[in-house]
Amino acid sequence: MIKWAFNFRAWQPSKSEWMLCGQCIQSEEKDRIQRFVFKKDAKAAMAGRLLIRKAITECLNLPYKEIKLGRTEKGKPFLVNLVQESFSFNVSHNGEFAVLAASRNGNIGIDVMKYEVRSSVPNFFHTMRRQFTESEWTQIRKPTQECEQLKIFYRLWCLKESYVKALGVGIGFEVSRLDFTFNTEYLQENVVTTDTYLKVDGVHLPEWTFEEHSINNHCIVVARSPKDTPDCVEEDNPCSFEVLELNDLLRNAKPSYEPDEGFWGNFEPKEEAPQIGREIRS
Ligand SMILES: CC(C)(COP(=O)(O)OP(=O)(O)OC[C@H]1O[C@@H](n2cnc3c(N)ncnc32)[C@H](O)[C@@H]1OP(=O)(O)O)[C@@H](O)C(=O)NCCC(=O)NCCS
Repeated sequence: MIKWAFNFRAWQPSKSEWMLCGQCIQSEEKDRIQRFVFKKDAKAAMAGRLLIRKAITECLNLPYKEIKLGRTEKGKPFLVNLVQESFSFNVSHNGEFAVLAASRNGNIGIDVMKYEVRSSVPNFFHTMRRQFTESEWTQIRKPTQECEQLKIFYRLWCLKESYVKALGVGIGFEVSRLDFTFNTEYLQENVVTTDTYLKVDGVHLPEWTFEEHSINNHCIVVARSPKDTPDCVEEDNPCSFEVLELNDLLRNAKPSYEPDEGFWGNFEPKEEAPQIGREIRS
């Protein structure tokens, strides 16, 4: 399993960097990135593409220029020219991080959420009441402090999203069918928690694994469907996230397109983003 994170909020691309990134991704993705209103969203999407391409070229030894990514009908990116090997990857972006998990074993889904307060917590929970089961709400409401309740809320949110993303089903899946139960009450910074279990429609799914992380005020969950090769030992020790710098992200990148001044001209005037949430710091 590979787990990488890139801090896209801290990244202030220079003209040459941004143009180089644009030369390394497929033209339809470049078009999509140009349509974002805010810089932060363009940077997050760009980081996601570069993470995927790096994972594929380094894990499968596929030359960078030969990587052809497609999207399923529901939007999940996949490698079009995957020949024999099993290889699953997924990305997520929120807060400061774009994250990727990839594995040769099982289907992967990942979700990251920054611990943030966006509005009145009781109103927020009321809006979300149907997405969680009774027992999940009991777990959310167990701590007395609202900020601790929110952290559990985000943890359960990431668990649900990671599962839905591993399936690749996207919007429309009724996440209230998923019922997660913790054995470890609180996530600890830089410790991987693996003992949360899932019931779907009341049925326990023990072959699914959920690797939960708390990194720099973000919750990250990697879900993996039952393994294709159950005796693969490499996958038995859950690893932590490696935080990459831009140089790492671009190390094996090879430009496939000509430099495009217009790509920088589109990006440079965008605003970074309005501040919406307030960080929860414990
Ligand atoms: C499509 C969906 C899975 C994306 O999740 P998100 O939280 O908005 O965004 P994330 O940052 O986690 O992930 C986005 C990335 O996931 C990938 N992705 C897109 N569609 C996907 C799908 N159907 N399955 C898996 N991955 C998908 C893409 O790489 C995307 O990034 P990109 O568009 O820049 O390439 C999500 O919007 C969704 O449909 N959720 C439904 C489940 C739900 O109701 N959740 C509530 C939880 S309580």
